Amino acid sequence: TDLKHIRNFSIVAHIDHGKSTLADRLIQMTGTVAARDMQEQLLDSMDIERERGITIKANTVRIEYPAQDGDTYVLNLIDTPGHVDFAYEVSRSMQAVEGSLLVVDASQGVEAQTLANVYQAIEADHEIVPVLNKVDLPAAEPERVAEQIEDVIGIDASDAVEISAKTGLGIPDVLEAIVQRLPHPEGDADAPLKAMLVDSYYDPYLGVVVIIRVLDGKIKKGDRIQMLGTGGKYPVDRLGVFRPKMQDIAELGPGEIGFLTASIKQVRDTRVGDTITHEKKQTATPLPGFKPAQPVVFCGLFPVDSAEFEDLRDAIEKLALNDASFSFEMETSAALGFGFRCGFLGLLHLEVIRDRIEREYDIDLITTAPSVIYHIHMKDGTMQELHNPADMPDLTHVDHLEEPRIKATIMVPDEYLGDVLKLCQDRRGIQLDMTYAGTRAMVVYDLPLNEVVFDFYDRLKSVTKGYASFDYQMEGYQTDNLVKMQVLVNDEPVDALSTMVHRDRAEQRGRAMCEKLKDLIPRHMFKIPIQAAIGGKVIARETLSAMRKDVTAKCYGGDATRKKKLLEKQKAGKKRMRQFGKVDIPQEAFISALKMD
Ligand code: GTP
Repeated sequence: TDLKHIRNFSIVAHIDHGKSTLADRLIQMTGTVAARDMQEQLLDSMDIERERGITIKANTVRIEYPAQDGDTYVLNLIDTPGHVDFAYEVSRSMQAVEGSLLVVDASQGVEAQTLANVYQAIEADHEIVPVLNKVDLPAAEPERVAEQIEDVIGIDASDAVEISAKTGLGIPDVLEAIVQRLPHPEGDADAPLKAMLVDSYYDPYLGVVVIIRVLDGKIKKGDRIQMLGTGGKYPVDRLGVFRPKMQDIAELGPGEIGFLTASIKQVRDTRVGDTITHEKKQTATPLPGFKPAQPVVFCGLFPVDSAEFEDLRDAIEKLALNDASFSFEMETSAALGFGFRCGFLGLLHLEVIRDRIEREYDIDLITTAPSVIYHIHMKDGTMQELHNPADMPDLTHVDHLEEPRIKATIMVPDEYLGDVLKLCQDRRGIQLDMTYAGTRAMVVYDLPLNEVVFDFYDRLKSVTKGYASFDYQMEGYQTDNLVKMQVLVNDEPVDALSTMVHRDRAEQRGRAMCEKLKDLIPRHMFKIPIQAAIGGKVIARETLSAMRKDVTAKCYGGDATRKKKLLEKQKAGKKRMRQFGKVDIPQEAFISALKMD
């Protein structure tokens, strides 16, 4: 296709502002899919994504649009994830297109993720078309929201397109705006091939599918290509575009976006941001390349039933094939047996993977407390990374500890501001900025990541009744007075409950944890002490008193069926418990004990 008739774009939006609905409309209105094939939210392909209503993997679609000027244009939409954990994926997709539609819910206004994503679009030099969605709602205030876009983001919103993705109102205007206001791509068809590896995923039938954006030159089926970063050389088996189903194509030229397959075994063999060129005639100007996404949150995954360890290994290996940002290594815990220490991009990423293992592979899991990576500076001048509090070295060799900190942006209606400030303060936050836009405040905090990974987002939602939005970026490491807190149940340390805490908060946290565990652990035939300790010194203690009688005693010995039922019920309850010494600890205790209220 002629460069002047191509437009490449992405849609930037806060979760729920209508990105998927708009994408569906664009596809539908251009007849890319017959109405009978139209499934709501075509772009969100995974079940979990659909259920949770979040978009995770970047997807692309090619739309053909006959514009009012009489010419037909090829519009390539790259779908970007909306959630904070996937900021890295957003930044790479942005590099592959020239413009963005900024979709803002006209009844809600600008939210924290809108900001984070739109800044990435600005950084990628995009032309941005503001789109005010949901104008069908009585609460919609498009003029006010357009003003807010200008105040908060600083881009011109005077000719924002007003639409309802739900009813279809204004969709033709969006298509025209894409053609008229977004720039066409540039590129040299006669230069050696230079394409960007935008994304890749594993398909059980096709193997690794690579999404590419051609910058210069042409690529054809059968070409021998080389990836300059990894050095990998492959013959192109298949070349095509998504409409949104896969469709083979003979050739992709400059400015075009499509996919290729090339007998690549694992997603790990493809590096996002890598330059793809011809093996024989290589480009002289490779792309700068991207940093690979680094996991920031770690936790242990253990099977409840130790007989399922091999199944768990299998599940984790399969998931890792398709997700290069998910890392794992085997771990053994005195308390939990064999399992895996896994690294994730963030909490949502953790939840998605855990859910998939439980659901798709039917394995019950014990998830240990999420932890961040600490830097331990030893007295001998070396530094080591700590991924698991249980591995904390002997304190006599440690000089000091550093923890990762984030810059968090929170947008919240005025009336909840006080609660949000208190929450951030309680989590050792340092306020950096506070501004107002209409009746909403925007606050920026410097916070320790370890105070955020666990339940910060849940707490934020609950104190603001769901009206706050949150986004963050990593800021770097800082020294603080951190200690490892152990929990002892019946005098035995439970390594899976070890956490890193700030010294000043240790006692309060320890007390709260012991109280929680006292409620979570069922009574046994004997008295159970529950203690929190730092370096062998007990800082909090609770005692779970002994059960007075056998559970079956209340059956008066007579009714045999009732007695059997009760015992069976007990057995079923045990399935999701783990034995520590002589004590059974239910699975949910590992997570619940760490929540701070
Ligand atoms: P993520 O996939 O989570 O990023 O969300 P999204 O931005 O793709 O939002 P989605 O398209 O899933 O829309 C969120 C909700 O808003 C859905 O329930 C839609 O039906 C609804 N919605 C989208 N557009 C409109 C609109 O124009 N008017 C109204 N009333 N509702 C809309």
